[in-house]
Amino acid sequence: MTPPYLPADTAEATIPIHAVTRANLSECLAGFPAETREFVEQSGFEGAAGQQCLVPGPEGLAAVLVGVNATDPSPFALGKLAQSLPARAYHLGSGFLDAATASLGWGLGAYRFRTYKTGTSERSASLKLASDVDQTAIEREVAAVALARDLVNLPANDLGPAELASTVRRAVAPFGATVSEIIGDDLIRHNFPLIHAVGHGSDRAPRLIDVGWGNPDHPRVTLVGKGVVFDTGGLDIKPDTGMLLMKKDMGGAANALALAVMIMGAGLPVRLRLLIPAVENAISGRAFRPGDIFKSRKGLTVEIGNTDAEGRLILADALALADEEAPDLLVDLATLTGAARVALGPDIPPFYTHDDAFAEELQATSFATSDPLWRMPLWKPYESGLDSKIADTNNVASGGFAGSITAALFLAKFVSAARTWVHLDIYAWTPAEKPGKPFGGEAQAIRALYRVIAKRYTQ
Ligand code: BES
Ligand code: MN
Ligand code: ZN
Repeated sequence: MTPPYLPADTAEATIPIHAVTRANLSECLAGFPAETREFVEQSGFEGAAGQQCLVPGPEGLAAVLVGVNATDPSPFALGKLAQSLPARAYHLGSGFLDAATASLGWGLGAYRFRTYKTGTSERSASLKLASDVDQTAIEREVAAVALARDLVNLPANDLGPAELASTVRRAVAPFGATVSEIIGDDLIRHNFPLIHAVGHGSDRAPRLIDVGWGNPDHPRVTLVGKGVVFDTGGLDIKPDTGMLLMKKDMGGAANALALAVMIMGAGLPVRLRLLIPAVENAISGRAFRPGDIFKSRKGLTVEIGNTDAEGRLILADALALADEEAPDLLVDLATLTGAARVALGPDIPPFYTHDDAFAEELQATSFATSDPLWRMPLWKPYESGLDSKIADTNNVASGGFAGSITAALFLAKFVSAARTWVHLDIYAWTPAEKPGKPFGGEAQAIRALYRVIAKRYTQ
């Protein structure tokens, strides 16, 4: 694929893209020759949001007009154009309120997953960046988002726990990070019983991937990502419709890795740790069963009420490990519940934290960066739903209400020493394409989290 951006000092001739509203269309056209104005009028272009017009000139394509909404200027105004414009080079012309955001939207929208589509063109449009935008910062975000999307889009036959681990190794190698793995029955020896139990039913061995980076004297930031490469539901098997998208059940791991790459790429002054429990929730004679009881790493015994609530189990052991060194900030990302989607839909993941100041910061930043999140409560009175008659806790709550909250409350039992803990119940998928958000695997929360983390540790 052609890189989506050209540097500001490129010698290549570029075509301007002008942002236009219904109200200022005639003003914008005033600078064009009469026959051009005529053309635009006859083309039916009115400056409606999302509309576009290719403007001809004596030497071919002279300009592009794109309709934007004046009252709600989406940063993704250009997201659609990056895919639909002819494979030429462009630059931002008039009408853009925020060049950096518009340019970011271009890059996010330019993404395509073409690994399995034979015979598609490699050429695509590119945008010359203005000299006053930070190309490195924009490219860092765009590359991180593409990494997360690529990983989610990869089908499970080509992405098992081992392949996920190699991808992590490849992605963190340029930053000199250390990587270790605990694989298969070693998980029992090193006391990760829940990760082992969930992954044991698969022929592809489960593992815990542990990445370390940065100065040990800096504040400790630990990211944990749910890495279920495929979720059949286990013996509590999912119906066909529920299983169809479950290759994306490592979306938390993909996003945690992408966030880690952003943090390392920017060289933030933190001691970073990335933990990915990577398993396949499969069905076999070795699969864990409803009614099984395991003693978790933390020491709490867990009764399995449902083998389809596997994500919280592998996270429990990984969070317990993370918590042992009392990190300053502990973040977990997971495609944890269908209930989160019932509550908030696919585009706005809920997050949970006990830290009100952190929540306020993340909430505001998420809207400011068009990476929207919504705080939901760790509502303690619902915790009793997790009670088990014969173990310390069940892995699912009785009653069936507030599934995303009770999942978060289950995780909370395994975190006690971290200064700030935040859990994000993400969807990691765009079911219906929108400007800047191509169909399929999606990065969620990482652009917002990156900003909050950068601010927290560089002030
Ligand atoms: N990976 C799923 C959650 C999921 C489903 C995320 C669909 C996004 C879309 C998770 O492992 C799961 O199956 N959760 C169950 C929990 C239930 C058994 C308590 C769910 O949400 O139905
Ligand atoms: Mn499940
Ligand atoms: Zn799952």
